[in-house]
Amino acid sequence: MWSLHCIGLVSLALARVAAAVTVTVSATASHPIPSTLWGQMFEVRYFAIGDGGLYAELLQNRAFQQVTPGTSAALTAWAAINGAGISVVQESVPVSTALPNALHVTIPTGKTGAVGFSNSGYTGIKVASGSTYAASFYYRFPTSSSFSGSVTIGLQSSTGQVLGSATATLSGSQTTWKQVSVTINPTTSASALTNLFTVTVDGAAASGQTINFAMFSLFPPTFKNRPNGMRVDIATALQEMGPSFFRLPGGNNLEGQTTATRWQWNATALRRTIGRTGDWGYVNTDGLGLFEYLTWCEDLGMQPIMAVWSGYSLGGTSVASTGLQPYIQQAIDQINFVVGDPSASAAAALRSSLGHPAPFTLNYVEIGNEDFFASSTYTYRWTAFANALKAAFPAIQFIATSDVGSPVLSPVPTEYDVHVYQTPTWFAQNSFYYDSFARGGTKYFEGEYAAISTNSSNLFGTPSQGRLTYPTMQSAAGEAAFMTGLERNSDIVFAASYAPLLGHITANQWTPNLLAFDAGSVYRSTSFYVQKLFSLNRGDSYLPSTLPSQTGTLFWSVVRQTSTNQIIIKVSNTAASAAPLTFVLPFSISSSGTLQLLTGTATASNTPTNPTLFAPVSSTISTGSTFNYNAPAVSVSVITLTIASGTASTTTPTTTIGTASGAMQSHFGQCGG
Ligand SMILES: *[C@@H]1O[C@H](CO)[C@@H](O)[C@H](O)[C@H]1NC(C)=O
Ligand SMILES: *[C@@H]1O[C@H](CO)[C@@H](O)[C@H](O)[C@H]1NC(C)=O
Repeated sequence: MWSLHCIGLVSLALARVAAAVTVTVSATASHPIPSTLWGQMFEVRYFAIGDGGLYAELLQNRAFQQVTPGTSAALTAWAAINGAGISVVQESVPVSTALPNALHVTIPTGKTGAVGFSNSGYTGIKVASGSTYAASFYYRFPTSSSFSGSVTIGLQSSTGQVLGSATATLSGSQTTWKQVSVTINPTTSASALTNLFTVTVDGAAASGQTINFAMFSLFPPTFKNRPNGMRVDIATALQEMGPSFFRLPGGNNLEGQTTATRWQWNATALRRTIGRTGDWGYVNTDGLGLFEYLTWCEDLGMQPIMAVWSGYSLGGTSVASTGLQPYIQQAIDQINFVVGDPSASAAAALRSSLGHPAPFTLNYVEIGNEDFFASSTYTYRWTAFANALKAAFPAIQFIATSDVGSPVLSPVPTEYDVHVYQTPTWFAQNSFYYDSFARGGTKYFEGEYAAISTNSSNLFGTPSQGRLTYPTMQSAAGEAAFMTGLERNSDIVFAASYAPLLGHITANQWTPNLLAFDAGSVYRSTSFYVQKLFSLNRGDSYLPSTLPSQTGTLFWSVVRQTSTNQIIIKVSNTAASAAPLTFVLPFSISSSGTLQLLTGTATASNTPTNPTLFAPVSSTISTGSTFNYNAPAVSVSVITLTIASGTASTTTPTTTIGTASGAMQSHFGQCGG
């Protein structure tokens, strides 16, 4: 509510200065804030999910998955060195049934010097001295030969400067697959990213030899040194946000364009993976498997919100009700892999064999993704999956992904996943979106949201039509306004995640993304800092306060953190001018508090050429039981106050669930995740 009583005091000379808004804070909390509230939705808009991004593997097309042997496309990212003959062939004796293809290499006669082949990575390979790179491949001689000689595995600049190398021996009598593993310790850091991974033999010594190679890998050091793990800089940025959940294995990544190319938990991770055509036309290696996702969740102290495929693929096909049983069984196996008893389930035994006999944490499972695109078949698919999965796993909550209440689903969902991609203005104007929702026991997961365009009539257009390439200060402030509403409604909104999480700076299919990256760096956006500010400044209970104007440009939320005796106020000012506020608190408050402020030019962004234009700035400000704060134009502020000792603490009632009521129609139809 705007503070009307101040207006009469404003003199004519000051008439153009906005009257301060008075925000009176309640001493009594309305509801506890769920510890799951702020988290991450896994989606990488790049070559494929994970590959070349969070997943640290450096070689592109490393196992020749989903390519047509004999074509030049099958050699994507590979090139011959010094006249070697290279082609992709279908192996008569594949390295694994899941990986039928191999690189067939012929060393021509009459060559001297290094002859072989190179891989150019995912738009480059970062080479840093002081880092140890683990390189490996399988090889065999299709025809036994008397050759025995050295192979050099190296990292080179685009001009041929050797940055680091290691050697191993190849034996011509090796006609079955043998793995070669070496470590490379570069002596030089490359200034550019256009480096190559090379495998060469001496042309004279190996003249006329033919060798097959398969399943290459090149890993830099990984986050927490996990095998098959995550890229350190990207993982560190994600950790910095302090997320409490990780939605996996993505949104659309789950679905596939067809039933055959759906994500399958048991077709992921090295040697078990066959790869598949990803949802955006690229080959998805699925080298980053379910086990890696789950250990990643443990490493960051977050819980998975895991999806199971529900019988619908993006190309538009739904499995008939009579054909669902194998997919329901696969979903049960997937959940058993995560939480099952190894003595009772083969899937759980597989988890145990990978080194994790104890169950992982799993409280939430999503049935499908964005099933509002196939709501006419979701009715029977939801019923079949939800009934079978609830019976098998009574302790798990199952989340529906159709529009809220439409179609009517049986059994009635206890949770819905809601998605929205909109304009910065829409987010500010919908800060009250959940205030009108019935308190009927249904909870909501704001599983994907982002301000993606300033053009409300063409959200998915080009940058020249208003589409954002990187989050701006204005889009981040709009999201923050919306998030104050999520915090106020966290009695029914139990989790929320910006989407997508990661996008390559040039090889991407969607903008904007929370973090941008290339082969060498990760770039934190304005929206990233908003997510981080909200996530790291949580409370355990919500303190009601004077409500903002629903149609205004100034939004706030107030929470209390009992363990630290703090009151945390978040303010988003989406207007082009500063907004004065007066906070009135029913506690004795210390005379100084902390301000973390993110502000700047509305349409500006952190970009690869100017990556640190925006970052929150901390300062000490004067506070008290009543204090003034002037929120700068287009800004997000987090003010932390300390309750002076000796004052009465607030009380936190447990959430009361109102009477059940008819579900509401969601207006969140603008989806892309
Ligand atoms: C995964 O499990 C399903 C049964 O749920 C099975 O039909 C399929 O062949 C398995 N896939 C792989 C790659 O093992
Ligand atoms: C919004 O998109 C439409 C095309 O759908 C375009 O004609 C219009 O110029 C765009 N508006 C702005 C402000 O870019």
